[in-house]
Amino acid sequence: MKPISSLVKEGVMGLKPCVHGGEILDAAYRSGIKCEDILDFSSSVNPLGTSKKALEAAEAAFGQVAAYPDSASVELREVIAKHYGVMRSNIIVGNGSTELMYLFTDSFLSEGDIVVMAAPTFGEYEGAVRKTGAVIRFVKLGDDKKFDVDAFINAMTGAKMIFICNPNNPTSLLIPTHELKRVLDAALEQSILVFLDEDFLEFVENEQQLSMISNIGKYSNLFVLRSFTKLFGLTGLRVGYGIANQEIINVLMSVKIPWNVNCLAQAAAVVALEDVEHLQRTRQLICEEKKYLQEGLSRVKGFRVYVPDANFFFIDMHETGYTATELTQKLLTYGVMIRDCSSFKGLEPYYIRIAVKLHSENVQLLQVLGKVI
Ligand SMILES: Cc1ncc(COP(=O)(O)O)c(C=O)c1O
Repeated sequence: MKPISSLVKEGVMGLKPCVHGGEILDAAYRSGIKCEDILDFSSSVNPLGTSKKALEAAEAAFGQVAAYPDSASVELREVIAKHYGVMRSNIIVGNGSTELMYLFTDSFLSEGDIVVMAAPTFGEYEGAVRKTGAVIRFVKLGDDKKFDVDAFINAMTGAKMIFICNPNNPTSLLIPTHELKRVLDAALEQSILVFLDEDFLEFVENEQQLSMISNIGKYSNLFVLRSFTKLFGLTGLRVGYGIANQEIINVLMSVKIPWNVNCLAQAAAVVALEDVEHLQRTRQLICEEKKYLQEGLSRVKGFRVYVPDANFFFIDMHETGYTATELTQKLLTYGVMIRDCSSFKGLEPYYIRIAVKLHSENVQLLQVLGKVI
């Protein structure tokens, strides 16, 4: 038998799992602190937790687990379509929005194709592209970690696909709409596919005006990503969706694995999307707590706090005398977990990300930071 490594397909060799926040079990194991005693600011999901109505719907769906789920997620796609005023044929549902990144790259990329993305941005795009053997051109963020539109458009020459995260993870910054449209126009002109991740847009006040979902008619090359993970707290159930021109969706629907979204997730998501009360309470909380944390975090010696558009803070902590890894480890000894951003491409090891949580939790965070720094 040859060594297994000689049988692995190219492109997959050397791939490593992407680092993510929210690894509470690992943190508990490393620190010796119980999971329930850890405050997790590393994962930017809804501090109010799961939409209650969605949870009830998931519980009611337990009776269906003996059967296969609807492979085409028809009811859920219908609800999403109605919500956005598009057709069911414009929607695909995935096992978390992450599945759709891999489905999109698997469906459209071949070895040697060029893909453009910002650095830093959400790390899973890179893994999805590398798996196909395509090549990535990274475009560093500009001054103040803003998306550099001109550099990005320049880098798009000859590309097959681009990835954009709006607001961006980890910087929590939106791309101004007129600049985003310049990129979309340039991509359309050059027949470049656009994967636009709007997973965090639901936390932004004027989401509807900022979303590009209403533009899928104009931009036949555009795929807009959304998730039930963040705002609706269906994180562990794994359900996300994409909205695009019917031709793109047809391709993806024929490539996806069958039964990719389980029946509990489908039932919960159908109800979640219309849970307006949960949405409003969340936005209100995030708005108030962002103000509180902006002020509190800005007072921490050595922190440079970027004003966030999404539900998490991005902080340059060069001046604290710690590296991001050192500070993360130190805070964990007090039971506080933050996201060390050292694993993000294009960032020096002095940046951290902190999610907005409940008021009492945010108070505790500031107290612990006061002790440590
Ligand atoms: C920007 C962004 N997009 C997508 C995802 C994946 O979310 P999901 O849970 O829907 O797979 C994440 C997860 O952290 C993210 O930060």
